[in-house]
Amino acid sequence: MTACGLDFGTSNTTLGVVEGGRPALVRLEGEERTIPSAIFFAPSAAAKVGRAAMSAYLDGEAGRLMRSLKSVLGTGLIDEATQVGRERVKFRDVIARYLAIVKRRAEAEAGREIDAVAHGRPVHFVDGDEAADQRAEDTLREIALSVGFREVSFQFEPVAAALDYEREVSGEELALIADIGGGTSDFSVIRLGPDRSGREDRKGDILANEGVRVGGVDFDRRLSLGSVMPLLGLGSDEAARARGALGLFPRPRHLVEHQPPL
Ligand SMILES: Nc1ncnc2c1ncn2[C@@H]1O[C@H](COP(=O)(O)OP(=O)(O)OP(=O)(O)O)[C@@H](O)[C@H]1O
Ligand SMILES: [Mg+2]
Repeated sequence: MTACGLDFGTSNTTLGVVEGGRPALVRLEGEERTIPSAIFFAPSAAAKVGRAAMSAYLDGEAGRLMRSLKSVLGTGLIDEATQVGRERVKFRDVIARYLAIVKRRAEAEAGREIDAVAHGRPVHFVDGDEAADQRAEDTLREIALSVGFREVSFQFEPVAAALDYEREVSGEELALIADIGGGTSDFSVIRLGPDRSGREDRKGDILANEGVRVGGVDFDRRLSLGSVMPLLGLGSDEAARARGALGLFPRPRHLVEHQPPL
């Protein structure tokens, strides 16, 4: 069985496997080991992911760009369908299509099937709602199984970040690890050290673990809506009339979707 670690982030995705006894990130797009978590559906071509998806959108190709999909996990939207070309596709299946492509790319690069996954997960997918949090993890497990992983486990993202940092430390340290992501910001206080790094169970070393659902996407959105878009007409009477005429309504807060530029 070949296992991978998968960081399906709100903004970016990476996937690592163990090569020659050491963890290594796999090339997912050309030489790039980190790709934007974005998928572009064109009417009569295969879906594009990563930089190719962003370029297709920015070049004005006909089709639909979707990103920040991770933020749909744990919300009621996950089982809602959205129009993708001529099909209606549930958001969970959009995530599955994206992860299936990432898995295929990684397998082509690694030269073998990857059948087990340790998924990164934020401490909280959803703030203050444990049931929704559990649903989000369950959904991600179902999606991972649906794309062909046979074993699925989860690692808190700040703990994963701490374990990466631990590879550099020469003595015991008490570290505060901050992982400021696109959708969530996660923090851990964790005891690290070369003597501890090989241990299988690290629960006793994780002294605190918390997170909030605020990240770079919120910052980008506020900057855009608060500073840039008003200069381009947002909030003007004309914009309101155009919205009404086109039947456009505000999108859910965290989901970033794009139609091709008019
Ligand atoms: N190349 C970049 N250029 C500019 N800003 C970036 C770049 N990469 C990341 N960022 C900023 O950092 C934020 C977090 O990026 P990161 O890749 O850590 O998020 P993520 O791991 O995908 O998200 P999460 O962990 O919350 O699911 C982005 O939303 C963006 O604001
Ligand atoms: Mg992250």
